[in-house]
Amino acid sequence: MTGRDRYAVSKVLVTGAGGQLGTDVVDAFAGRVPTGGRPGDRATGRLGVRSAWDVTAADHSLLDVSDRAAVQTIFEGVRPHVVIHAGAWTAVDACEGDPDRAYAVNALGTRHVAEAARRVGAHVVYVSTDYVFDGTSVRPYVEWDRTNPMSVYGRSKLAGEGELDPGSTVVRTSWVCGAHGANMVRTVLRLASQTGPMRFVDDQRGSPTFTADLAGVLAVVGSERLPGTFHVTNAGVTSWYEFAQAVLEAAGHDPARVEPITTDLLDPPRPAPRPANSALDNAALRLMGMEQLPDWRDGLERLLAATGPMAASTKEAR
Ligand SMILES: NC(=O)c1ccc[n+]([C@@H]2O[C@H](COP(=O)([O-])OP(=O)(O)OC[C@H]3O[C@@H](n4cnc5c(N)ncnc54)[C@H](OP(=O)(O)O)[C@@H]3O)[C@@H](O)[C@H]2O)c1
Repeated sequence: MTGRDRYAVSKVLVTGAGGQLGTDVVDAFAGRVPTGGRPGDRATGRLGVRSAWDVTAADHSLLDVSDRAAVQTIFEGVRPHVVIHAGAWTAVDACEGDPDRAYAVNALGTRHVAEAARRVGAHVVYVSTDYVFDGTSVRPYVEWDRTNPMSVYGRSKLAGEGELDPGSTVVRTSWVCGAHGANMVRTVLRLASQTGPMRFVDDQRGSPTFTADLAGVLAVVGSERLPGTFHVTNAGVTSWYEFAQAVLEAAGHDPARVEPITTDLLDPPRPAPRPANSALDNAALRLMGMEQLPDWRDGLERLLAATGPMAASTKEAR
């Protein structure tokens, strides 16, 4: 098959397609601007001119990646050229109490995806996490820094990285927010509609990353089959406390309602430890001269403009 043929008939399979990131990845490959995305986004626009994608949106009800036979069946039926593997058990605190389930989905599930992709010659893009690091670095982590996850979730996601064939793509991201899932923007807006206190930690720092922006980069690295690990986050580093203030301000609430606390004062304490420093230097993208994602404040403004006050959710933010 020539490169031209490949781009003419390319098929992509998205795991976890019903999740907040998966939903936007499906939109990006289908040539739609994801909710809160940038019209004319170079990443998505490039796809539009280069190729027509046939998208298989494999949500959890269609594909459980921990089921080896089910993964093989769908891959042999679809025969995708590219797989965006966004499906994962992302309930970080619950993972501490059920490591077997975390490893079955995040590690073994990725083994199944890698094996099935190998059989049909598909390129795998695996979405991974800042939680592979312990957060003790005094600077943002580059792709080549030593990993040392502190939680079951982080260990199971790192184990998933280890299941991939050489030449696959790993995209590590952080503090993910989008229109279609549980996230901190939704949590802050829900709390703002209630009367109780709003306390957020000021000693965990990272980069909020908006799925509408991240999806475009996943589409580019997938369609170009770029090998290796990439850190992909929106630009700028903040704390959860500062982020909560920014969400309130952008949504027209009083940011002074939020009180800063330290992690040890969280009540009840969270079962899974979080890295104090989650900042990821997007070094591989930068060194390759590729476009960096805009500042997180820009992504937040676009998300709120596109969704209005996001529907309250009782789901736990990550
Ligand atoms: N959220 C973050 O802050 C964050 C940060 C860094 C990296 N990531 C990574 O980004 C990716 C997308 O996360 P997200 O934020 O979009 O989370 P999400 O909304 O929870 O999406 C994950 C999706 O995977 C599905 N899933 C769960 N178990 C599965 C299984 N056994 N087989 C197939 N699908 C399964 C979930 O379905 P159900 O809801 O039905 O279980 C959900 O639709 C994940 O790989 C995650 O590890 C997330």
